[in-house]
Amino acid sequence: MPKSYSVYITRRIPKVGIQLLKKQKNFSVVVNPHNRVLSRKELLKNIKGVHAILSLLTDTIDAEVMDTAGATLQIIANYAVGFDNIDLEAAKKRNIHVTNTPGVLTNAVAEHTIALILGITKRIVEADTFTRAGKYTGWEPMLFLGTELHGKTLGIIGGGRIGSNVALFAHTGLGMRIVYADVVSNPEFEKTVGAKKRSLAQLLKSADIISIHVPLLPSTHHLIGKKELSIMKKTSYLINTSRGPVVDERALTAALRAKKIAGAALDVFEKEPELAPGLPKLPNVILTPHTASATIETRNAMAEIAAKNIIAVLHGKKPITPVTK
Ligand code: GLV
Ligand code: GLV
Repeated sequence: MPKSYSVYITRRIPKVGIQLLKKQKNFSVVVNPHNRVLSRKELLKNIKGVHAILSLLTDTIDAEVMDTAGATLQIIANYAVGFDNIDLEAAKKRNIHVTNTPGVLTNAVAEHTIALILGITKRIVEADTFTRAGKYTGWEPMLFLGTELHGKTLGIIGGGRIGSNVALFAHTGLGMRIVYADVVSNPEFEKTVGAKKRSLAQLLKSADIISIHVPLLPSTHHLIGKKELSIMKKTSYLINTSRGPVVDERALTAALRAKKIAGAALDVFEKEPELAPGLPKLPNVILTPHTASATIETRNAMAEIAAKNIIAVLHGKKPITPVTK
């Protein structure tokens, strides 16, 4: 057993996580000192011989990274619930643990999703921009007419933790009916909010608001493309707080421009931080910079879980939140 363990953190995260790691007597902890994503070269240089990597969703952790770290590497603790940035097969082959931060961001992401649903249907951002620009000249009967949510149908794509929480808020708080599409049934979800399982095509045809909560997998890449957008109602809205590549962003931009659907609110993009050409010019969109989990409470909890996973594994115990496919 080595006398000390080295932990590399690829970018500054909330203090609680860093301090937990630094408090371990036999740990030496290094944090990327720059307030930016490391270049590939820097990442490879910094992780040589480390025992643990605390990574972000903006780091690509593949076989080359693992082999560069070398045989010392025991755990990759991703500071995210998603883990599409990590080559799981490569990690498994090398007996490296991979962990994520599930559960602690469910509420934050669900709240942000509800904020986007309310924001886009009430045209909050558009109206704010208008008012700030000094264009408000007096009350008008038809100014910024939006859409009411009560009694409307919310279509949840992916009825896991986050999806079912969004549905719970929308159903109990806003009086929305819930339908969902998923590869597996969620009986608990069906019971709590009366959610009805539908095929993706049925959901797209019938829902007024469609919110995506699936992980990015080969099977969910461009799950929503030109064809899917074409069967959505003209009055419907698309919300995405999952992963950008689940939606064909160019097809979405075209559909929004042609008013094939009423609007979209996106927290994630296909090639972050880039946006599809023309997307930011559209009035019927709200765009947030992948901040759905960005609450103080959640980011602290994520830092704590990532640190605790590293501590557990380097102390020879099981990780607390191993990634499961
Ligand atoms: C954020 O997108 C996450 O996966 O935690
Ligand atoms: C994933 O869906 C989560 O809620 O952690």
